[in-house]
Amino acid sequence: MTMQRKNVLVFRALPPDLLDRIASIHEVTVADPRRAEELPRFRAALAEADGLIGSSFRIGAAEVDAAPRLQVVSSISVGVDNYDLAALGARGITLCHTPGVLTETTADTIFGLLMCTMRRLPELSALVREGRWTRNIGEDLFGWDVHGKTLGVLGFGRIGQAVARRAALGFGMPVVYHDPFPANVPADLAGRVAGASFDEALARADVVVSCLPLTEQTRGVMGERAFAAMKPGAFFVNGSRGAIVQEAALAAALDSGHLRGAGLDVFAVEPLPADSPLRTHPRVTPLPHAGSATHETRRKMAELATENLLRALAGEAPLARYDLTATAA
Ligand code: DGY
Repeated sequence: MTMQRKNVLVFRALPPDLLDRIASIHEVTVADPRRAEELPRFRAALAEADGLIGSSFRIGAAEVDAAPRLQVVSSISVGVDNYDLAALGARGITLCHTPGVLTETTADTIFGLLMCTMRRLPELSALVREGRWTRNIGEDLFGWDVHGKTLGVLGFGRIGQAVARRAALGFGMPVVYHDPFPANVPADLAGRVAGASFDEALARADVVVSCLPLTEQTRGVMGERAFAAMKPGAFFVNGSRGAIVQEAALAAALDSGHLRGAGLDVFAVEPLPADSPLRTHPRVTPLPHAGSATHETRRKMAELATENLLRALAGEAPLARYDLTATAA
């Protein structure tokens, strides 16, 4: 029996072989809604789409309403905060994502950002590149030790645990974590990490790393009160979602000197607006949301998202379905 060809809207670039694979089974429209000139084509294809695959674009209630045939949304991301979960759940639409394949790469980026921020590596590198290395560096350019410092991990899911593993096993760092829904501590971290309340994790850590997903509970959770609860001279690293941070409060905590520095891979608005005080702040190490951005991992994410899409459109169980039952109306 041949499967009925369905309409698939690809809203973020996919490797050509994966695009070909989808097109061998279904009708494909590629339209990037972030490009103004492609928006009309995106809207037209949305109205006919049975399946969507892409990332980094809000699929809200309006988009779900505009897609009466929609059965499957396959996100090329682990985070699902770009989707209106209630609207998808209410329609019985399957949402798929890409957990697991990006865990280690994202943890590498977060730990690298932590190192860069505490040891001031980008600043030191710029000194050399820009021809300003004319004498031995002095105290004004010294960083702060990473090894042995206490790491606070907010959000102890896959990525939080992988960051904790690097810290505890590689850098001899005591780790304190906070998770609103604590899972079991993996065997290799047992006895090396301690669970704590949110305030306690903030108060004990020399460097706090956010691996929290963005939900209505975590939006803006790192505000004035939370930064004040951190140790004077502590560092903050965000590798999850920008909107968990109240950015003005972070800038104020850095300006006052209460925090020594921040490493930020994510921002409330991305790409970061030119007038954001965080863009050029001397105590901020910014990255362009690059947590999973390696050739190998982006490939694995695209493969998993493609497989999820094709399986779900064929009525089979996708490899990674996001559980929408908690949000269904
Ligand atoms: C993810 O997979 O959620 C990453 O943040 C990329 O968006």
